[in-house]
Amino acid sequence: MKTTIEAKISAGSFPKIDFQAPSPWNERYEDPAYAERLFRDIRELARKKCALILAHNYQLPLVQEVAHFVGDSLALAQQAQKTSARMVVFCGVHFMAESAKILNPEKKVVLPNLAAGCALADSITPESLEEWKRRYPEHAVVTYINSSAEVKALSDICCTSANAVSVVRSLPQKKILFTPDRNLGGWVARQVPEKEVAVYDGACPTHDVLRGVTVEKGISRYPNAVVIAHPECREDVLAQADEICSTSGMLAAVERHPEARTFIIATEWALIYQLKKKFPDREFIAADGCIGCRLHCPYMKMIDLEAVQRSIEEEVFEIFVPEDVARGARRALERMLAVPRDR
Ligand code: 13P
Ligand code: SF4
Repeated sequence: MKTTIEAKISAGSFPKIDFQAPSPWNERYEDPAYAERLFRDIRELARKKCALILAHNYQLPLVQEVAHFVGDSLALAQQAQKTSARMVVFCGVHFMAESAKILNPEKKVVLPNLAAGCALADSITPESLEEWKRRYPEHAVVTYINSSAEVKALSDICCTSANAVSVVRSLPQKKILFTPDRNLGGWVARQVPEKEVAVYDGACPTHDVLRGVTVEKGISRYPNAVVIAHPECREDVLAQADEICSTSGMLAAVERHPEARTFIIATEWALIYQLKKKFPDREFIAADGCIGCRLHCPYMKMIDLEAVQRSIEEEVFEIFVPEDVARGARRALERMLAVPRDR
């Protein structure tokens, strides 16, 4: 029997979108008929080429819409691992497409724009990790999936924001070196006091710009709002959050507050598109005090519909990982995938 995703690929169909509706999400396309044509083309091409289109929750809203599956890093890695499609078109950033290739080496994996990197992943290199490992020789190395294949290969296990606490708890070692995100690492350390956690000093510039006082200002304006934050935010932001979770975890978090009407969201703005779509009767406020322009990841916005179309048509840009590096990275990723989500 075909899974829902396989059925979506072979149908070549796409969700109902009102391209005529004035919406802040699709105003980039002045001609709605053009956007609709692109949509049809992309889904038809995907069907012909048996291509699975995956998109991260931070992708441009129309890219999220054209994808067969949208999710957080953990869910995307799981989809990439189990797909029977011939090709995976990864609308996200480089480390995500690279992880997909490592987990499913027989598949062709393409990233529609090779410039879509990740500043956090760039904050750790094999050399800098080796240096930290020399400082903490007895520590098990837990590396966030936002890292290169080389760095993963030098780690004991990977994690995402959806399973970081469970991954650390699952290890027999008491001493942990958590890399590269210092905010996520600090949060994990506070959740798992029984472990001794040394934290590397990388950060995501998109999340690290947000300050606790800015969130406080939002709370004073919306005193009944539920605050949901991504664990890549600083400690002063997390201290004010009612819920701390991965991007897809935020969708589940809203369900845990059926009485709440307003939510302050401390993560990259495009996630709010998924929230509004799933909960049209609730209000979602970007925690940066503006319209989300400070919590903007430039890398996640490097893929548009034209890039997706070209990527499927020309099968570019293919991701390659040398097998000696992939072997070590796969071990760390597969160990991670054996650990369930935090909740
Ligand atoms: P998620 O795994 O929560 O989707 O986060 C990925 C990411 O890059 C956050 O900045
Ligand atoms: Fe990387 Fe930050 Fe962008 Fe996520 S939001 S992809 S961690 S730069």
